[in-house]
Amino acid sequence: MHIKSMDNAFSLAGKNAIVTGGNKGIGLGITTALASQGANVAIFARDETSAREVIKDLGAKYNVRLSFYKTDISDMQSCKDSVDRCAADCKSIDILVNNAGAAFGGNLLDLEEDLSSWFKCFEVDLHGAVRMCYHVCKHMRDMGKGGRVINITSNAGEICNKPSLLSYASAKAALNHFTRCFAAEVAEYGIRVNAIAPGFTFSNFSKNIPEEAYKMMCREIPIGRFAEAVEIGALAAFLAGDASDAMTGAVLTMDGGYSLGH
Ligand SMILES: NC(=O)c1ccc[n+]([C@@H]2O[C@H](COP(=O)([O-])OP(=O)(O)OC[C@H]3O[C@@H](n4cnc5c(N)ncnc54)[C@H](OP(=O)(O)O)[C@@H]3O)[C@@H](O)[C@H]2O)c1
Repeated sequence: MHIKSMDNAFSLAGKNAIVTGGNKGIGLGITTALASQGANVAIFARDETSAREVIKDLGAKYNVRLSFYKTDISDMQSCKDSVDRCAADCKSIDILVNNAGAAFGGNLLDLEEDLSSWFKCFEVDLHGAVRMCYHVCKHMRDMGKGGRVINITSNAGEICNKPSLLSYASAKAALNHFTRCFAAEVAEYGIRVNAIAPGFTFSNFSKNIPEEAYKMMCREIPIGRFAEAVEIGALAAFLAGDASDAMTGAVLTMDGGYSLGH
């Protein structure tokens, strides 16, 4: 549904969302943002302990249903089983956020001969999102109520970073273009597909960065700091709701201006 006034324009009340990797880092910021706007959130991830902690913390704060489905997005059957169970539990899935990801690899010429880390990276960072889109968007199409897909990519998919994470950057670039092409495919079903390309953001990866190194990295960022996970979450909440119905196939960069100079 699209908006014609600002009344409840940003509300997600009663919507059912899946957030892959919604238990940690940026995914936790997204779970928090969606729940704060009234969405019920199903966390799809492997680590149950951290997911249960999130459910306990946020469940006490927001009056929404939070749940966990143990899922490995690199495995098609695992994605299918979790989506089927989630759809049966919630009746309808309105929002899918493909956030789960991991950075593997390095220079191509330094990789092992079977390129296993290259393929492993694509299995998670590109094909994980594709698998989830396949199962969830079939459900959305069959329900006939439209839906929202938000892919979390990276500014590394648009620019050339050094040192390079070549497989990661290539997988994220492919996910950006998948976002555009898939958006065109499913627009007729009322499904909107957009991406957020974050830059440096506080998450598990940033926990071990020494203070001096953090300051050095921030010199490259016009706003002078990393983004907070919940700031990525706030943009995801906008893309998940009716206010963004006229947007599809967009890749929105949120990197504090880092990519402007690269
Ligand atoms: N942090 C940044 O600076 C930054 C910048 C640009 C883009 N990004 C992107 O933002 C997303 C989140 O990154 P982050 O920094 O928040 O990472 P993170 O703190 O390491 O969290 C990664 C999340 O992905 C889940 N995950 C990883 N592999 C999975 C698999 N095979 N199946 C299911 N879940 C899996 C993890 O949950 P389990 O371990 O429980 O499975 C975890 O919740 C990623 O797509 C990343 O590429 C991050």
